[in-house]
Amino acid sequence: MKTTITPSPSIAARFIQRGEIVAFPTETVYGLGANIFDEEAVKKIFIAKDRPADNPLIAHIFDLSQLEQITSGIPEIAAKLIQAFFPGPLTLILPKNEKVPSAATAGLNTIGVRMPKDPITRQFLRACAVPIVAPSANLSGRPSPTTWQAVRADLNGRISCILKSDQTKIGLESTVVDCSGETPVILRAGAVTLEDLSKVIPQTKIAKISGDSELAVPKSPGMKHRHYAPKAKVVLAQFPQFIAPMNSSAYIGLKAPQNAALFERILICKDVEEYARALFKFFRDCDDSGVETIFCQIVDEEGLGLALMDRLRRAAYG
Ligand code: TXA
Ligand code: MG
Repeated sequence: MKTTITPSPSIAARFIQRGEIVAFPTETVYGLGANIFDEEAVKKIFIAKDRPADNPLIAHIFDLSQLEQITSGIPEIAAKLIQAFFPGPLTLILPKNEKVPSAATAGLNTIGVRMPKDPITRQFLRACAVPIVAPSANLSGRPSPTTWQAVRADLNGRISCILKSDQTKIGLESTVVDCSGETPVILRAGAVTLEDLSKVIPQTKIAKISGDSELAVPKSPGMKHRHYAPKAKVVLAQFPQFIAPMNSSAYIGLKAPQNAALFERILICKDVEEYARALFKFFRDCDDSGVETIFCQIVDEEGLGLALMDRLRRAAYG
């Protein structure tokens, strides 16, 4: 299959209208989209990514009026979060309606919905005119793509089109919040932080990932799959000054390590935001240059640091 690479949202949207799948930028990471109502197109996403069929997709909308096309009723807590954080890097788990094919939600009766803020994403979604379901546009198990080149590296020849834009601003996937109970539960941390959510709904909680996931259906099925992992071994480092690099090591963090000259690749970020934005591209760059061990500095688990530490732990421990 030939993969068309274009900067034009309207050209990319034409592929969606023809039942094809298209990678597109958002402020978090690049997504791989299909028309939510086209079950055949939705199935193509799972094939192209090699994604397990039990991992549900997120629906992307550009206008609140699209909510009623895919959901059946908005719980009160969800309405508050929509008002406070849409458009933005927040996905809400809502009851789905019968028009959404079960392939999109892996058989669940809920659907994750997000309204991106990035202007190019919004132009694309508007041109598509239907809600677009999309997971991150990486091969399953690889780090999410934050550049169009990363999408091309994983999916060239497997998808019809890449809508090409800049490196994504946030660099980590959206916050996922379950709204089916009395209080919001964070299933995946992201750039809309626990602190942000708590200002609107003080009872907001973080889901506890049970070690015994076989016993219960996990609330967020995607979280049981291996994620975010480069090929290199990831080692978390509390004290950069004490790292003794081995052969072909790399380092990313806020503070410089002592033996900086001994690392093959090094990235010092000015704050947690920049660390988050750079992380997945750094992982991919390390893999491309054959780095064997990546040392990542641990950060405080507050604000965006909670999401960053979640991704770092998944990369280090699977
Ligand atoms: O920032 C993002 O969220 C990006 C961009 C493209 O929007 N998308 C993304 O999609 O990261 P994906 O498929 O890689 O991650 C979606 C996560 C998975 O952990 C999935 O299990 C969870 O959201 N999820 C989706 N629908 C759900 C549902 N109905 N119930 C519970 N969890 C759900
Ligand atoms: Mg993903």
